[in-house]
Amino acid sequence: MNLDQSIEKLNKKSKVAVLGATGVVGQVFISMLADHPWFDLVHIAASASKAGKGYKDEVHWVLPTQMPQSIEQKKLGLIDSAKLRDEGIKIVFSALPASEAKTIEPELRSQGFYLFSNASAMRYEEDVPILIPEINPDQLDLINKQGFPEKGFIVTNANCSTTGLAVALSPLRKFVIEEVVVSTYQSISGAGYPGLASLDIMGNTLPHIPNEEDKMGVELKKILQIEANVFPFCIRIPVLFGHMETVWITFKGNVEKEEILEAWSNFKFGGKGLPNMADHPVEYLNREDLPQPKMSFWGSPSGMQVFTGRLKKEKNRIGFTLLVNNLVKGGAGGSVENAEFFVSECGDKL
Ligand SMILES: NC(=O)c1ccc[n+]([C@@H]2O[C@H](COP(=O)([O-])OP(=O)(O)OC[C@H]3O[C@@H](n4cnc5c(N)ncnc54)[C@H](OP(=O)(O)O)[C@@H]3O)[C@@H](O)[C@H]2O)c1
Repeated sequence: MNLDQSIEKLNKKSKVAVLGATGVVGQVFISMLADHPWFDLVHIAASASKAGKGYKDEVHWVLPTQMPQSIEQKKLGLIDSAKLRDEGIKIVFSALPASEAKTIEPELRSQGFYLFSNASAMRYEEDVPILIPEINPDQLDLINKQGFPEKGFIVTNANCSTTGLAVALSPLRKFVIEEVVVSTYQSISGAGYPGLASLDIMGNTLPHIPNEEDKMGVELKKILQIEANVFPFCIRIPVLFGHMETVWITFKGNVEKEEILEAWSNFKFGGKGLPNMADHPVEYLNREDLPQPKMSFWGSPSGMQVFTGRLKKEKNRIGFTLLVNNLVKGGAGGSVENAEFFVSECGDKL
C-alpha cells in the first residue's frame, strides 16, 4: 500500500491530542497541527487545574508567529484515556515535563495510544526509538517490539541540541566519525516558560545546563548508531529562539572540506511527501556571518532545516557551526514529522 492509498484509507484526518499544550513546545504543536493536512487537532490539555478553561485565556503565547484562530476558542481538557478514546483519538503528542511524562506516557501507551513525545523520560528504553526519519527510519520498527499494532507505543524525538548535531552529522557517517567535540549556545526558550529567572540570564551566560551534556553523548550514539567519542559543553545564552553549536570532528581517514559540502548537498530523503519534512535537511550557508539564531524560523518547511556554516579544516579536524530551531525541528516539529512518517509507513494499520 503506497502513501496515497494509506491516506485514502484513512478517508478522513486522524484525530490527535496535544498534552502540555500551553508550554513553549506545546505552542509549536498547536501552530503546526491547527491546519494540518493529515491530522485533526481535537483535544488539548495542560495541567489539571486548567481543564475546562479557554486556551486563549490560559496560555502565555511566546512564539513570534500568531496563535491560530481556530484554537483561540478551544477549551483545555483533562488527560483522561476514556475521554480521548471517546473522541476517537489514537495519536497523542506530548510536550510534558519529563517528570510527568514518566508516568503519563507509559500509562497512555498501555491504554493503546500512539505517543509521539518530546520528553526525555522514555528515550533511553531499549524498545523506544529516538526517531529522526531522514537519519534512522528503521528505528520505527521498534514500535513492533512494544506490541504495535495490537498495543500502543511511544516514539520520542531527541533533545533539541542533539537533533541539530545528529542531522548535520548523519551524511558524514560514511567517513567514519571517531570523535566529536561540540559546544552549544542554547537559547532561553529551551528552558520552557517561565523558564529561567530574568536576573539570572539577562546580559549573562550560564555555563551549565543540567543533564544536557550527558543527553547529547548518549542520544547521539543511539540515533546515529556510531561509537564515536563525544565531548560536549552546553551553555545557555540570552537569545530567545534557536540553538547554535560549534563542532569539531575527527574522522578515521583524511576528509576534505569539499567532501563534507558534497555530502550535505546530496543529503535528501526525497519521495516520502511528508508535509513537514525538509527536502534538504542540511543547508550550508557560505557566508562568514551565518547562520545566526535570528534565522531560527527560516527554511522550508520553516524551522525544520538545520543550517551549517563556517566550514574549516585544521590539521586532521573538520570544524563548522550549526543552527537548529530548538522548538520546531528540535521539538514539536520533530514529533509531528515522526507521526507523519508513521502514518506514511503504517497508515493501513491505523
Ligand atoms: N523547550 C525546548 O526547546 C524543548 C525542546 C525539545 C524538547 N523539550 C521537552 O519538551 C517538554 C516540554 O518543554 P517546554 O519547554 O514546552 O516546557 P514548558 O514550557 O514548561 O511547558 C510544560 C507544559 O506541560 C504542562 N504540565 C506541567 N505539569 C503538568 C502536569 N502535572 N500534568 C499535565 N500537564 C502538565 C504545562 O501546563 P501548565 O501551563 O498548566 O503548567 C505546560 O503546558 C519537556 O519535556 C522538555 O524537556 C523542550
